[in-house]
Amino acid sequence: MKLLEARNLSHHFDYPLFSDVSLSLDVHESIAIIGVSGSGKSTLLHILSTLLRPDSGTVTLMGRKIETLKNRALVNLRRNDLGMIFQSHYLFKGFTGLENLEVAAILANEPISQSLLEQLKIDKVIRQKVTELSGGQQQRVSIARVLTKQPRIIFADEPTGNLDSETAQEVMHLFESYIARHEAGMILVTHDEPLARRCQKVYRLEGRRLVLIKGRE
Ligand SMILES: Nc1ncnc2c1ncn2[C@@H]1O[C@H](COP(=O)(O)OP(=O)(O)OP(=O)(O)O)[C@@H](O)[C@H]1O
Ligand SMILES: [Mg+2]
Repeated sequence: MKLLEARNLSHHFDYPLFSDVSLSLDVHESIAIIGVSGSGKSTLLHILSTLLRPDSGTVTLMGRKIETLKNRALVNLRRNDLGMIFQSHYLFKGFTGLENLEVAAILANEPISQSLLEQLKIDKVIRQKVTELSGGQQQRVSIARVLTKQPRIIFADEPTGNLDSETAQEVMHLFESYIARHEAGMILVTHDEPLARRCQKVYRLEGRRLVLIKGRE
């Protein structure tokens, strides 16, 4: 079964953003989406991750068509199966990094992995308040929080945007090994083309179309 199947998506805000966008994600697969600023990448990711309804087209996640799901089923799907790492990360600001992770761990009934914190190099700062962390540290806490949930699909919007290239490579490696070891896949939006090319499939959003530039449909 496909983790994600999108068919003929189109969307507009003040003007048409894209139309006839189709893609599918298999287990153990990663897909990157690149494209100039404003081309609609984040919007597409919001649609794929159930946060926004497209003008037309369908999204099916783990065999379930999103539009047919009742609110409760949708909430459960997001909570249990989807991991979202977005440009603005929604950490609880008054809490420490660790408290943020504990919320995710309790909701998902999964332990917090010490080695995950070490790999992300946040084990030393995890007891500090989120507001006392650098942008890149906050980004890595939100990555740790998402991986703690053990999602089926990771949706990541510029997850390495605040990181130096060495740390970005390590974070990418972490995603890759997570996907390899779980029945999971990833859709990554990035401006970093070399990073994007580590994914099995790479698409560019251009001229209102999603164009495959690496891999096979
Ligand atoms: N909620 C909204 N209401 C109105 N217009 C919006 C909304 N969200 C996005 N847009 C517009 O849609 C276009 C695409 O935005 P989007 O955030 O998807 O681009 P992007 O490709 O992710 O860009 P970037 O690389 O800068 O993050 C932009 O022109 C933006 O202003
Ligand atoms: Mg964006």
